[in-house]
Amino acid sequence: MTKVFISCALPYANGPCHLGHIRSTYLPADIYARYNRMIGNDVLMVCATDEHGTPIAVKADKENKKPIEISKRYHDMIVRDVESMNISLDNFTRTTDEIHYEIAQNFFKDLYDKGLIYRLDIQQLYCENCQKFLPDRYVEGLCPACGSEARGDHCEKCGRALEPIELDEPKCLTCGNTPVIKDTYQYAFKLSEFEYELKVYIKNNDNLPANVKNYASNWLKEGLNDWVLTRDMDWGIPVPLDEAQGKVLYVWIEAFLGYISSAAQWSRKTNIKWEDYWNDYVVHFIGKDIIYHHSIFWPGLLTAYGCKKPDMIYAGEFLSLEGEKMSTSKNWVIWISDFVKDFEPDLLRYYLTINAPLNKDSDFSWDDFQRRNNDELADVIGNLLHRTFTFTHKFFDGNVPEYNNPSSEDLAFEAEITKLPDTVGEYISNYEFREALLEIFKVAKIGNKYFNDQEPWKAVKEDKQKAANTLYLSNQLAKTLAYVLKPFLPTKADEIAQILKLDDISVWADAKVPLPSGYGIAKAKPLFKKIEDDVITHQKDKLQENLEENEDDNMSDIIDIDYFDKVDIRIGQIKEAEKIEKSDKLLKLQVDIGDETRQIVAGLAKFYKPEELINRKVAVLVNLKPAKLFGTLSEGMLLATGKSGALLSPDDCEIGEEIQ
Ligand code: 2FM
Ligand code: ZN
Repeated sequence: MTKVFISCALPYANGPCHLGHIRSTYLPADIYARYNRMIGNDVLMVCATDEHGTPIAVKADKENKKPIEISKRYHDMIVRDVESMNISLDNFTRTTDEIHYEIAQNFFKDLYDKGLIYRLDIQQLYCENCQKFLPDRYVEGLCPACGSEARGDHCEKCGRALEPIELDEPKCLTCGNTPVIKDTYQYAFKLSEFEYELKVYIKNNDNLPANVKNYASNWLKEGLNDWVLTRDMDWGIPVPLDEAQGKVLYVWIEAFLGYISSAAQWSRKTNIKWEDYWNDYVVHFIGKDIIYHHSIFWPGLLTAYGCKKPDMIYAGEFLSLEGEKMSTSKNWVIWISDFVKDFEPDLLRYYLTINAPLNKDSDFSWDDFQRRNNDELADVIGNLLHRTFTFTHKFFDGNVPEYNNPSSEDLAFEAEITKLPDTVGEYISNYEFREALLEIFKVAKIGNKYFNDQEPWKAVKEDKQKAANTLYLSNQLAKTLAYVLKPFLPTKADEIAQILKLDDISVWADAKVPLPSGYGIAKAKPLFKKIEDDVITHQKDKLQENLEENEDDNMSDIIDIDYFDKVDIRIGQIKEAEKIEKSDKLLKLQVDIGDETRQIVAGLAKFYKPEELINRKVAVLVNLKPAKLFGTLSEGMLLATGKSGALLSPDDCEIGEEIQ
């Protein structure tokens, strides 16, 4: 018996789950976990919500809420989503839990005491307007490698992990200003010391799938830099060093430790040691966008700590929607909570598995979902089961009939049934979930054809033993299906088991033990229904409407008159102008706007000498939120053209006049 430690990547608690989360991580992990439990392995499957870091802090800023309010809201939704899909986690916790703080701080301290984490004086981006450093997602710009728009920590286009300072044309996410570079210090991990060891790990670990090996070895070719593990931020786990006030652990180092803290929390509840699972076999289920972190940073940290590295990293590929990249910001997405309102979760589990090879992206399309449900689940698997159960009642009083003098067709079909559990099991063990389900579908199809060819409804009148053999074998297949479908479609498998009066289908090996002749089964009930066209049309319309609603919300270039009414532009006159030290762009101006004089910092130094501006009439936006630029207060903005910086000069107007 193996003890298997299974983890699912920690979802950021900044949104609920959509189909993509289920496809790439939770569903494959759940299939694997359920199968392993059935073959007698001892499984510990853990996850948690990832609640720190800039994704949550940025969302909280936008909504004017505390980060913990945001993360609690989404934690609860994620728990609901994961449960609704029957993901069989043994423990699901939060990275704001006390035990997580303790484990993360101790881990950091351990590496610091060993000299593997050290203080590093560095320069980081700082927004003078917001008066704060801009870690990770607080800044956006262009990826230095591929030129696409990227966040401070990651380029989605080329998959590269980034430092904000590497971005071209960086902008503060909060206010849009260009940040400056400022001296600060952080704590870095000596990742570079582990380069050789990591190369060996990636090269020699034959468990690792090709997509993980390829990504990781490509990155390793470039050589490893040390990794900065702390941030200047309020939201996060405080760095456990007296001299590091105001600094928190980078969300990634502690997110990994969420695997451990979730397991440790489980240990506290159960009194069973999680370490025994880790030391036996560890598999991380993740999305492919975080292969870099799991194949390099995490094994590096574990080696430094003196802990075993993961045995396997399963990196699920992406899911698109109706041929387009899913996007939560554009509302081009299907939320799990919406899906399960209208359909049984097993239908999605079936579709996402049979449609998703390990190494290729896949697509969710409503038409294809309907087709697979109707043609495969309903017409093949459902039809076979239904005919088997109803005919058993109709011709054999609801009892599995005698099996005698099998024909060559019977024997061939029996052989297919007998080998199905082994074939499926082997595929699942190799993480080939789609192939496993395809095999089940293939044998169900063979079963349907066999049933048609044997024509038991005719045979029962002419050659009753022939019909008996057909129904005997069809019931054996139904029983085998209950077992082999269990990891994939747990609810449907239980429903099949109920009809077969099987109380317990938790042991894989039992799939091979045939139902005895004379065994009574319960009445049939329809297990899989067809999905009508109008249901699918409704779903497609809903998707389109969401997108359109979102586009309406984003029509920022068209404003109504009420919106414009809020904008207060007046005529002013520049009274004083001087350069701002250390800035080659900014001038400090005193502007008379009629009833008061305003200090305004304007980016005009490249276009005007200070003295040229004295007494110039200008248009001033007076109700702009005050801001500090280069430490100088600015209370308004002058209207000027973008490129040439030409000021609007309303010479014929009176000072203080309002523009309407
Ligand atoms: O990329 C993400 O969604 C991260 N929240 C994943 C963290 S996985 C881990 F290390 F736990
Ligand atoms: Zn800013």
